Amino acid sequence: MITNEHMLIEQSEKLSGEVSVFGAKNAVLVTMASTILASGKFIFYNVPASTDVLYMISLLESLGAHIIFNRIENILYINSSSITLWRVCPEIMKKMRASILVMGPLLARFGKAEIALPGGCVIGARPIDYHIKNFEKMGAIIGNEHNYLKVSSNRLQPQTIVLEYPSVGATENIMMAATSVKGTTKIINAALEPEVLDLVKVLKKMGAIIEVQAPGIIIIQGGKYLSPIEHEIVPDRLEAGALLLAAAITGGSVTIKNARAHDMDVFLLKLEQMGHTIQLGQNGITLHACQDPKAVSFKTAPYPGFPTDLQAPMMAAQCLAQGKAVIEETVFENRLVHVRELQKMGAQIEVYHTKAIITGVDELYGASVIASDIRASCALALVGLAAKGITIMTGIHHWRRGYELLETKLNHLGANIQVAYGKPMPVIQKTNRLAKELER
Ligand code: EPZ
Repeated sequence: MITNEHMLIEQSEKLSGEVSVFGAKNAVLVTMASTILASGKFIFYNVPASTDVLYMISLLESLGAHIIFNRIENILYINSSSITLWRVCPEIMKKMRASILVMGPLLARFGKAEIALPGGCVIGARPIDYHIKNFEKMGAIIGNEHNYLKVSSNRLQPQTIVLEYPSVGATENIMMAATSVKGTTKIINAALEPEVLDLVKVLKKMGAIIEVQAPGIIIIQGGKYLSPIEHEIVPDRLEAGALLLAAAITGGSVTIKNARAHDMDVFLLKLEQMGHTIQLGQNGITLHACQDPKAVSFKTAPYPGFPTDLQAPMMAAQCLAQGKAVIEETVFENRLVHVRELQKMGAQIEVYHTKAIITGVDELYGASVIASDIRASCALALVGLAAKGITIMTGIHHWRRGYELLETKLNHLGANIQVAYGKPMPVIQKTNRLAKELER
């Protein structure tokens, strides 16, 4: 959904104050898909009103679900009793990657599914071969007609599944399907991200028997009757990371009241290595920024390694840090697209395939930049908070997909981010005009 909505981000004073985060996008989407596994009324709390959640609502409604979303209180009511369809129209499938996550639940409920391949995106091809070959190993028959999949299985079989890569989506899809398969299904080299573990919690609350073993094994005793539940979605470590980095990049102090430090240990370690002070307590996570942060290097990896979804936002913080940072993206093959936009703002970054070398500079300056994906939009907004003048960001439908009104939270902490519509004017004019307005 491309809109002419754009964001104006003014150089910010030090951010300070307290905020909370919503439930994680990458937990709520799969949890919504899991409601297909049982019939009845589900209630979910702390659900962000982000575009992807609205997309998943429309997907489930297209299958027959009755859904009410109280967006004021962020409570989502899903009645899955009326789901009778197993075919997802291509237009809905293409809106987001997470739509592939209804494949396992539909197979479990109906023994069949008809879905289009989800779109890839700028960060990589994002194939679904791990999903397909392992469902086939469990006995599914999958026909592919022009990227439209017709999946069927008389009876899925319990299997020992070895994932060649700890894929989040493949782990979640297989695990949800396996809850309906009598016998023991084992997933080896499973993803254990906090959002995957929140899904394990949801499925166990529904009645599934699931065991998680180190170093990455999930064992499902399938065939149990599953019932609808109520659940509060795990706090979003990615929103928390964005807010902590906003404090860091503006030299401020911010507390994230409901963030879970254990979900972001490596990220917090890297912030401390930069010189920032991290305090953990009953009241969540507090960052007190140091005024001369040092650049730190890191490599993204599956949990508990440095999360790929915080790579771009963390790169933003390196642009103004002292020294050089080497950042290597190992999860997606093309997740450095935001570098070009950061360079427009004066960042000194060289890219060698999936490695970026950032040399910290003393100042950055506002520019007109384009967000290429959800986490790139976060990185550009963060640099906009520190850059001199005004940054105009377009492509903020990505921002809307991943966050509910994150700009409102940043403004609550002292930022000045405005959302405008219509053709964005070149920064120089906007700067002069806005500067005059701001002086009044
Ligand atoms: C989930 O995507 C998240 N999305 C992503 O968040 C996140 O970056 C990613 O996990 C990694 O943590 C949701 O949960 C909705 P993967 P997913 O399967 O499941 C390759 C965000 O910004 N792969 O773990 O699609 C794949 O191409 C988004 O919130 C295959 O090759 O990620 C990638 O290189 C971005 N074949 C790697 O594995 C497959 O069948 C990891 O992908 C599946 C994946």
